Amino acid sequence: VSTIPYAGRAFPRTHPVHLSAMARRHGVPAADPAACRVIELACGDGLNAVAMAAADPGVSVTAVDIDPDAIAVGQEAVAALGLGDRADLRVADIGDVPDLGAADFVVCHGLYAWVPEPIRAAALATIAGSLAPAGVAFLSFNLRPGWLVRQGLAEGLRRHASDFGAVRDLLAQLGPALAGRDDVYARLLGEQVARLSGWEDHLVMHDDLGPHTTSFWNGDVAAAAAANGLRVLCDGDPEAPQPDELTDLVSGRAYRELLLVGEDAAIGEPLPAIPGRARYASEPGERPVGYALARWQAARGPRVTTLRHTSVTIPDAAGRVILALCDGSRDRAALAADAARAPEAGVTRAELEAAMDDALDRLAASALLQEVSSPRRAAPRSPAA
Ligand SMILES: C[S@@+](CC[C@H](N)C(=O)[O-])C[C@H]1O[C@@H](n2cnc3c(N)ncnc32)[C@H](O)[C@@H]1O
Repeated sequence: VSTIPYAGRAFPRTHPVHLSAMARRHGVPAADPAACRVIELACGDGLNAVAMAAADPGVSVTAVDIDPDAIAVGQEAVAALGLGDRADLRVADIGDVPDLGAADFVVCHGLYAWVPEPIRAAALATIAGSLAPAGVAFLSFNLRPGWLVRQGLAEGLRRHASDFGAVRDLLAQLGPALAGRDDVYARLLGEQVARLSGWEDHLVMHDDLGPHTTSFWNGDVAAAAAANGLRVLCDGDPEAPQPDELTDLVSGRAYRELLLVGEDAAIGEPLPAIPGRARYASEPGERPVGYALARWQAARGPRVTTLRHTSVTIPDAAGRVILALCDGSRDRAALAADAARAPEAGVTRAELEAAMDDALDRLAASALLQEVSSPRRAAPRSPAA
């Protein structure tokens, strides 16, 4: 079950730009997202954290996960991108994590509702011990009571499918078994069957069928946080109302991202966000420069991270080859000539020349090309030793 790797993505709501703006909106003088230190706990392959550092020279990150294979992926990216002085990825068990120093933002995404209680408690203690005075933490979890429908399906699948193939078979049988029924239960279960059927394998296995997957009432997470000296600031989703159990009961939400601060954090009047700066090129320019992390990813597979800190897929091999070649040294003719030499692109030079403008425009529209000028950035802080 756990052999399917959890392929990392970039999560925009864990990014310092978002965390800082949300906290400031709620009266906490959070750090400048362009000059900050981030810790990520249970970072998977670490590419979410690496992307924060790769896109902004003022950001340093320390990220830990227990899975050495996952961390090795992120470490390879750190080495390839020359980020070793600002991105520190480590194998560590959150139950026994070394002191990571103080951070402006601490991210713990996809852990809390998926591990045994001692690891949850250790995660909260580590968050509390790592937050700088105006630091902000991001903590995600499955939310009750909305999650309970999913939990019912997950329990049924766990009890009656011995391996992942059997899970897929059972899901395929459940759809037709519910067809033609219009009662409330059939609709609720049918939605969950459809959701899991459309998901990637690793998401189904980790998010819903993990051996420790569970869910919480909001108040129970808030109480556990308070026991560790943390207090709930707001929901991490800017569209969501302030976290409240009766609102959750009515809405049926099944997932929450809480922003937490230290119990001593000064909370005052709302503060303006520190303006971010768009760092991606709106036009490809003469010699396009691809975002370094995305170029590295494009040489490995279809999913790449954008300079908006989102993940997108480049389905065509030629598009990926072109992005990987955009190092600022090549104009359109050179890109077409060099891409035509890559066997995996599978297209001719003439075809590439004809399609190049469109391909580059698409990369720019997806925030995959870097601004060429490099105005002032704040000096980075070093990760803790
Ligand atoms: C669902 S994945 C989430 C990964 C990433 N944060 C994301 O959201 O894509 C859960 C991660 O928690 C890690 N993990 C589980 N138990 C851990 C522990 N005791 N210490 C550190 N990491 C742990 C797993 O290795 C896995 O990478």
